[in-house]
Amino acid sequence: MAIVPGGGPPGEMPAAIPDANGEEALVVRPAARLRGRPALPGDKSISHRALLLALLAEGECRIAGAGDGQDVRSTASLIAALGAVVERTAEDEGRVDYRVTSPGGRALAEPEAILDCGNSGTTARLAAGLLAGRPLFAVLDGDASLRCRPMGRVVEPLRRMGAVFAGRDDATRLPLAITGREALSPVSYETPVPSAQVKSAILLAGLAAEGETWVTERIATRDHTERMLRARGVAVDEGSAPDGRHTVRIAGPSSVAAIDDVVPTDPSAAAFWLVAAAIHPDAELRLEGVSTNPTRRAIIDILRRMGADIEEYARPAPGGPDGEPLADLVVRSSALRAVDLSPADVAAAIDEVPILALAATAASGTTRIRGAGELRHKESDRIAGIADGLTALGARVRVDGDDIDIIGGGPLTGAVTDTHDDHRLAMTFAIAGLIAAGETVVRRSTSAAISYPGFFRELEGVRA
Ligand code: S3P
Repeated sequence: MAIVPGGGPPGEMPAAIPDANGEEALVVRPAARLRGRPALPGDKSISHRALLLALLAEGECRIAGAGDGQDVRSTASLIAALGAVVERTAEDEGRVDYRVTSPGGRALAEPEAILDCGNSGTTARLAAGLLAGRPLFAVLDGDASLRCRPMGRVVEPLRRMGAVFAGRDDATRLPLAITGREALSPVSYETPVPSAQVKSAILLAGLAAEGETWVTERIATRDHTERMLRARGVAVDEGSAPDGRHTVRIAGPSSVAAIDDVVPTDPSAAAFWLVAAAIHPDAELRLEGVSTNPTRRAIIDILRRMGADIEEYARPAPGGPDGEPLADLVVRSSALRAVDLSPADVAAAIDEVPILALAATAASGTTRIRGAGELRHKESDRIAGIADGLTALGARVRVDGDDIDIIGGGPLTGAVTDTHDDHRLAMTFAIAGLIAAGETVVRRSTSAAISYPGFFRELEGVRA
């Protein structure tokens, strides 16, 4: 393991260098103060969708401020392999502007090679939905982590709609071969787990279905696909039943208009700084243009329930009624208290549970996280990764099945943590290093670039 020390002067980025075994690690040292405005990536979920919808739209779409992590790059490569001309017209601090020129959804090119989705579950699952309704043969694959993640959850409804899938374990794992159809059958489908990726895959297939496709969710998930389809002229309605179930209806067949997008700041990336400042004794950070979409803002609201000092200054939202609400956030050092997170809280803050778990170590009392089983199916088994990493740092963590208890209030002490090549664990343990005594080693830290390429530069930049 090659250990590269970080924690130099403000702005100096610690480099992570692979050693002979291909492993690398960073050392993060405590920060005396945190100040500044860290540069943040464009929202990953919206960036993927903007690219995929640009592929379906005939003509030119400009996408400003997309996230430039490896996951979004996987989607950009995928749409290029399906016939779009994808140009990077500007880049700045982890964001990129794209110009996408596409022949449109009816004229996609059959891909010559396997479509490599890298580490990105969103790319694989949304592409499966998109390809289901196109008369092409395509193969989706990904890295070792993505090949372990469940794909049956999209294959099952897409098969019901008429697409043909072949793959290992009855097409429940990548690589997956897809033979799409020009006209699919509409379905009415209740998702077995709360998943915006599953919902979105069905809605993208619903564009090619002859009639109304319905998706029902027991817990409503992020609604970017619905908003972005409506903004492109597609008839998408949403409704809520008295029992809390949420229904989305799309009328097919439908084409997608070419429009331009401005991607807001990713709240799941902002989450790392919200927690960093809240748990640090001398901190004030400003986070600009963050999406405060009701289906994404749970991290802000949960931290406030824990007593976090977060001010929110709403900004005018571009994009009309279906645009994303935005705000600048100012977060300061806070005295946190424990919180109970229900399965609905977990679903609403699914990507933020690792960093919330770190917040819980600094909170007075015991935080109880219930029904977190979906975390085992992310880029790594995040329940195990959180428990191992935080325990190594001296936190008291109990795992019982899908439930996690964190007994907060004790100090953290630097230790060796392992990210299992999971970007959100890498950033969580690096933030822990800002407050833990001594040196925190973050093994396999470069995975942060999956969603937040400039993260380690910003980590050094906010040391006042
Ligand atoms: C995403 C949905 C969530 C989330 C992922 C992005 C999306 O996944 O964890 O990072 O863009 O739709 P699930 O649908 O598997 O919950």
